[in-house]
Amino acid sequence: MSFSTLVRRVEIELERRIDAGVESEGRLSQAMRYAVFNGGKRLRPLLVYACGETLGLTLERLDAPACAVELIHCYSLVHDDLPAMDDDDLRRGRPTAHLAFDEATAILAGDALQALAFQILAQDGRSDRERAAGCNMISELASACGVSGMAGGQARDLELEHKTPDQATVETMFRMKTGALIRAAVMMPTALAPDLPPAQVQALREFGEDIGLAFQIRDDLLDVEGNTEIIGKQAGADQALGKANWPALFGIEGARRRIMELDARARASLERIEGDTSGLRRLADRLLHRAA
Ligand code: IPE
Ligand code: IPE
Ligand code: MG
Ligand code: MG
Ligand code: MG
Repeated sequence: MSFSTLVRRVEIELERRIDAGVESEGRLSQAMRYAVFNGGKRLRPLLVYACGETLGLTLERLDAPACAVELIHCYSLVHDDLPAMDDDDLRRGRPTAHLAFDEATAILAGDALQALAFQILAQDGRSDRERAAGCNMISELASACGVSGMAGGQARDLELEHKTPDQATVETMFRMKTGALIRAAVMMPTALAPDLPPAQVQALREFGEDIGLAFQIRDDLLDVEGNTEIIGKQAGADQALGKANWPALFGIEGARRRIMELDARARASLERIEGDTSGLRRLADRLLHRAA
């Protein structure tokens, strides 16, 4: 299935699940919708569907993890943009949520999007077996967004402002703040394929970790070289905040080489997988060589 069809699919599923999970029409629910329906690339849901395709899973089984990971991602962007964090005014080409609404509403919208993500996974599945898989997906996603994943990485990102950390320190922070959620997008479908041999689970994990790290290096490159109109967020924002931006610290050419190296390693991990990995390969391309 084409990526654009899958993007439409996850957007319809998100609409349906937000409508079901968000009863009131108040300011908070408006802010939640604003944070989700605003032209995101939906790369993490696409990873869920592509990994599911590799494992021979139906699209219906993948909708819940696809929605859950995107909701966590949208929440992380709302909080990332807050004045206390990156203090950004532009996201996906529109005013950030705290400017379109207010700071308190943006904080609460992030909180509520996070809760909705876990509710969707908790309510997924009809049989005991499917519910057990849902529980494993909750665990995977929770560790990806908690203290050893996204939230912990965001804390390190703030601690490293105006410092000159070494490459390993920066990359650990990237693996946590961004890579962990990308890894979770790849790993959640494996919970729906309990007979998958551990070596193949490991190969998918390594694939997710490598593209996750490379994705943030690409994001940093776009901050340095990109155009605000195209990336939909303020170019040069990292430098203005003294962020530990990979190319700013270690060089633009070095960043390109590092992305190529991680890309090659990620592709090598896919060679160890038995199913059809063409979707994951195409997505790796889209993630790592994107212009926006
Ligand atoms: C941006 O992610 C934030 C990072 C983790 C680097 P995306 O580039 O996937 O953002 P959207 O969802 O398409 O807006
Ligand atoms: C974002 O990193 C990581 C998140 C967990 C949201 P950035 O701060 O570089 O993301 P952008 O550039 O604002 O999208
Ligand atoms: Mg940030
Ligand atoms: Mg930011
Ligand atoms: Mg960035």
